[in-house]
Parts: sequence; structure tokens; C-alpha cells
Amino acid sequence: MNGKYLLSDLADTSHNFLYGHRYWPAIKKAVIPTATNDRYERIEAIASKSGAPEEFALAMASIAVMTLEQCGPAFLTTPYVPSVTNDKPNDFLKRRATSLKPTLMERLKGKQTTERIQFDEQDPEAWFPILATQEITTAAELDKRPFHEEDPRCYEGMGPIPVDCRSGSCGTCWVGILGGNENLDPVEEFERKRMEYFGYWDSGFINELDDRPLIRLACQAKCNGSAAIVIPPWNGVFGRSRRERESAD
Ligand code: FES
Repeated sequence: MNGKYLLSDLADTSHNFLYGHRYWPAIKKAVIPTATNDRYERIEAIASKSGAPEEFALAMASIAVMTLEQCGPAFLTTPYVPSVTNDKPNDFLKRRATSLKPTLMERLKGKQTTERIQFDEQDPEAWFPILATQEITTAAELDKRPFHEEDPRCYEGMGPIPVDCRSGSCGTCWVGILGGNENLDPVEEFERKRMEYFGYWDSGFINELDDRPLIRLACQAKCNGSAAIVIPPWNGVFGRSRRERESAD
């Protein structure tokens, strides 16, 4: 598989798109051996000891416990300082929804005249323009920066979102919608069926009555305005490896 998809390699960063990520160092410090094996009691104990606000502490403590169970304790001693803003939660969400317009400086530089897809909130340069009714991957492919040099899941010249078929067949291109979901077209029958097939529809993040679920196939989802997405770093991709192996045989 291509990509850095092992949780042990991403223990500190796989959740960096969450507001509560800023409390991760405090949560790590609060992970102590406990007498209980009960997962929920453990989560509550860590959350309470961390001093983080409860509404974020429980979620982050859950991530810590699951990471511990899957990867062992090595990540607890890895130094890590998240890069965060001073936004309050509501400001954070508002910024997610409104910061996707070009700044004055960007407009002066002629950088941006259209709506945009922000694909990494940690990096102000991580966006590409999108036109109304374009599929997200169609817009992404017009961004010719060498993403393949940093991310082995990406093909040269195909943008920052890993794709393998662009026809809803492979499931490679799934993304999480962080902001601007109202700008996406409702999910159509084909995308819905493919999401069911890949198991994304049963992920717990999706209400089957929801026309605009938080997980979308970027090659099928059309967008009519700006949106913020997360390209899941843990999404290993095997398409290219498989084809390379087949052509070598
Ligand atoms: S690229 Fe294959 S499903 Fe989107």
C-alpha cells in the first residue's frame, strides 16, 4: 500500500483537524497506568486529569486510549507541540466557514478570483480554486504543484487528493467535509451506493437520511462554493502498487 497510513506513524497528527487537538499534549500527559481495564472509565479518568474542557477532553481521551490499544505506549513520550490558533470554538468554526475567500493580499497578487477548497487547515497555501458544479477532484487536478513528491499516494499532475479511477469505482478519493458542506451538491444515488459498497455509509459519521454526509467521494461530489476538507492521512492506497506489480509480472 502507498501512503503513511499506520496509526503508529500518525499518532500525534492524525486528528490535527479537530479543535480539541490543541489539548493533545495535556491528554498525553494524563495517560497514566490505571487499575481499571474498563475503556470508558479510563477515558473519563484521563479526560478529568488532563484539565482540558470536558467537551473536548472526552473525545481526545478516547483517541488516546484507542491509540494506546492499537500502537502501544511509544507515542506518549514523543515530544509534540500542536500548531494552533487562539480561536474560541465558535470562532474556529466561523473561520472555517468564512476564511475561504481570498484575502486582500491574495487578490492583489492575482492569486485567487474564485471559490476555493482548503485541503489542509494547517497550511495557508493548501487550497485550490473550484468552479461551480465542478467535482472536487476535477478542480484538484488543475493544481499542478508536485504533491506526488510529498505524498506517494498522489499521481504526478493529478492534484493533492489521491485518486485511482475518478469514476466511483475504487473508493480512494474519500474526503471529510470540515466546512462549507452546504456548498456541496446533495449526494446522488450512484455516490450513495458506492459509499455503501465501500463501507463509508456505515461509518457512524453518516446519517443515511442526510443528503450532505460528512464523508464524500471527491470524484463524485460537486461543489458550488468554497469548502474545507480533510484528506485522510491514514487512507492507504494500493492502486498504483497493484498496477506496477501487475505490469512487472
Ligand atoms: S477516484 Fe476512485 S472512487 Fe473516486
